[in-house]
Amino acid sequence: MPGLLQSVVVKAYWTFAILGILWAVFIGSLINPTIQRHALYAHKIQSPFWHNVSNPEEFGFAKGQVQPFWLDTLDGERLFCWHVLPLDVYLENEYELTTADTVGEVVEGLKGTVGEKLWRRDGESRAVVNFHGNAGDMAQGYRPSTYRSISGIPKTHLLTCDYRGYGLSTLTNPPHIPTESGLITDAISLLSYIQHDLAHPSTRTVLLGQSLGTAVTAASALYFTDPTSTALPDQVTQLAVQASTGKNFKGFTAIVLVAPFRTLPDLLKTYSIAGLFPILKPLQSYPRLANYLTSKIVDRWPTALRLQSLISSATSSSTKAHPVHISILHARNDQDITFRESEALFAPLQSALLAADEGVSATEERRSIHGGERVSRGAFAYRRVEDARGERVVELEVVRYGGHNEVVGWSQVGLVVRRAFGRRSVGVGLDVE
Ligand SMILES: *[C@@H]1O[C@H](CO)[C@@H](O)[C@H](O)[C@H]1NC(C)=O
Repeated sequence: MPGLLQSVVVKAYWTFAILGILWAVFIGSLINPTIQRHALYAHKIQSPFWHNVSNPEEFGFAKGQVQPFWLDTLDGERLFCWHVLPLDVYLENEYELTTADTVGEVVEGLKGTVGEKLWRRDGESRAVVNFHGNAGDMAQGYRPSTYRSISGIPKTHLLTCDYRGYGLSTLTNPPHIPTESGLITDAISLLSYIQHDLAHPSTRTVLLGQSLGTAVTAASALYFTDPTSTALPDQVTQLAVQASTGKNFKGFTAIVLVAPFRTLPDLLKTYSIAGLFPILKPLQSYPRLANYLTSKIVDRWPTALRLQSLISSATSSSTKAHPVHISILHARNDQDITFRESEALFAPLQSALLAADEGVSATEERRSIHGGERVSRGAFAYRRVEDARGERVVELEVVRYGGHNEVVGWSQVGLVVRRAFGRRSVGVGLDVE
């Protein structure tokens, strides 16, 4: 072998060997719960110092369009949140909003702000509650484009908070790191604040989650339907919420899940960080080692089980039954979480609904990349299962573009939200809570 070629081969060998050792050390270190949670939640990934979430104009919002506020959670954390006003409401009340004395301030709770008064004054106001994915804060990356897209929907107010430990939100409770029950508590606190303190009905509220936020969304939606569900962490079922839950709960307008996953252990089998660095994929031919590692995952986020529990408790007894509308949306070119996760999430929900009663029908449409059979809504693939009265619906839309992060701010998600509100406002009588 010529000397040059030999040295290239040797170098390549060592490069791979070192990468392999680094990967093994990284994976080994994840067995430690603290390191594991740091890797999962990535809440310490901080924004650059010129990024100021207290100043929403920096992220493309009009002066006075966003009211930053503090929210106290049910277990005593303080979350930093935004109330984003819809543009139609903004335009009608521009003077009042831009001259309010809370402009440029972070207020303690929304009560009494101009935005809150405008929201409550209109009996047709709607709310979208946004749950962001892991890493960074609510204004990171593409996230503000989601809020701008939703703010174009008439009468639709958007609320979003940084989970405990993210952005400016506190992290005072042990174990002083974000946890599954902690993030779910944050979401329930926000939803119960909207329902109870601001007296905004759940029937005019859409929950919108992306990535890790879909797991938070599914868990908190289940909580309101069945607050003692065994599919929820114990710390969560022990919460004392004043908003209506269980029997008194009338359902949310829709639950929109963008780029979700079945469970964290399932996800890690195929997940690559930023589409580049695999976690457990290299262990595909070592199932025992892979199973050992997945058994060490502390926060398992079983969204598939929670959505199934949600469907079954919302359909079970007639006294407790309420409408459920779940929309799952995933980009075909998502490099982080494959759209197969969404398909695998949808299938058992479809079976559960089909088994629940006789009037349920399922539809499926597909289109090849190059066109061909047309699919409603221009989706790449669209599946839907629904009961005879259209009260229990689960739909899956696989769109062609949008990747993992960008898609949530794109038109398809805005359309899903608009359709959800359009559908519910048809039966006006049902809307009253
Ligand atoms: C962030 O923005 C707020 C509101 O405009 C301002 O009061 C505050 O001083 C800013 N913080 C920094 C560090 O620039």
